[in-house]
Amino acid sequence: MKNLLVCGGAGFIGSNFVRYMLKKYPDIHVVVYDKLTYAGNRDNLESVSQDERYKFLQGDIAEHGPVARALEFNRIDTVVNFAAETHVDRSILDPDAFIHTNTMGVYVLLEESRKYGVERFLQVSTDEVYGSIPQGAFREGDPLEPNSPYAASKASGDLMARAYHVTYGMNTVVTRGSNTFGPYQYPEKVLPLFITNALEDQPLPLYGDGKQVRDWLYVDDHCAGIDAVLRHGQPGEAYNVGGENERHNIDVVYMLLELLGKPQSLIRPVEDRPGHDRRYALDNTKTRQLGWKPEVSFEEALKCTVEWYKSNEWWWRKIKSGEYQQYYKAQYGQRLKDIS
Ligand code: NAD
Ligand code: TYD
Repeated sequence: MKNLLVCGGAGFIGSNFVRYMLKKYPDIHVVVYDKLTYAGNRDNLESVSQDERYKFLQGDIAEHGPVARALEFNRIDTVVNFAAETHVDRSILDPDAFIHTNTMGVYVLLEESRKYGVERFLQVSTDEVYGSIPQGAFREGDPLEPNSPYAASKASGDLMARAYHVTYGMNTVVTRGSNTFGPYQYPEKVLPLFITNALEDQPLPLYGDGKQVRDWLYVDDHCAGIDAVLRHGQPGEAYNVGGENERHNIDVVYMLLELLGKPQSLIRPVEDRPGHDRRYALDNTKTRQLGWKPEVSFEEALKCTVEWYKSNEWWWRKIKSGEYQQYYKAQYGQRLKDIS
């Protein structure tokens, strides 16, 4: 692993992963390849922008030519693909971009990587490909039963990575991470949305009864899990990267409000998300066998995350004043009106 291409490296987990890898591996060269959609943000990579081992390229993973050139010109031996459309609610409003990037894009990236002779390819996938589980925890061999357009498009990329191993003998691996949180997460996902809304004394739109369960994973633990699978995972295999930290949404919201010193009256139960998965849970046994486990306690990680958003208003205020406003209106305008 000398020359690493990090696709989607200007997003939330990708940018944290770039920092993680540059810090951990002194001899590595990292090229970020990112389309800079609404979720991509060069501010996320500001802290490494002066590092000589780092370089940024703007491009779409679904375009053959630019992908081929990025691989060849930089002599890439390893690809880690974070690039994706990632928000379930946006996939319900308009699935088009999800198919473009998460399905076609992953195919193009695999195909160009195969032609060029990339030595290792890691596709970052999600626990959402399994669907919902009332009790117990998903293992990697369980059937994929995705329920949202987002999850279905991610399942497609995940399976394509497997097929490229079986058919062409390509050295691919897949990680399936659980709900991730931490610094630089775009404020459409529930934690940064609720933290920043609460800081502005705005309502927190809680879907349905708030009793859905998510397995929360701190971003540093997610990056370490991806790194472990990248180095030690068996070609053609998928690996769960779960936080081993299941919580009801409402309980997480209470914790947030307590940390922020804000009242519970900010919580607004609103119309539920269609097809809302009730519970996610992952069995990490296979990934733990590679020597990885989640390290950071949820309480500590949530505290750090809240502190980060409190100290980095410049980062999220810029985002919240742009295209975001239209999205917020489309997603929450009627829901919040319905209950007022
Ligand atoms: P994000 O939305 O913050 O970032 C996605 C990045 O991909 C952005 O920088 C965007 O500009 C880029 N991108 C989008 N389309 C592109 C294209 N066609 N070509 C090149 N770049 C493109 O996402 P995130 O939350 O950091 O998630 C990263 C990956 O991890 C995704 O694949 C996601 O499915 C997966 N994942 C996320 C979570 C989570 O809780 N956030 C959990 C498990 C897995
Ligand atoms: P989200 O951050 O969108 O992640 P995912 O859908 O990938 O799990 O949502 C996490 C949980 O929070 C999920 O159960 C939906 C819920 N949620 C709300 O209650 N209100 C909101 O405004 C959002 C965005 C999510």
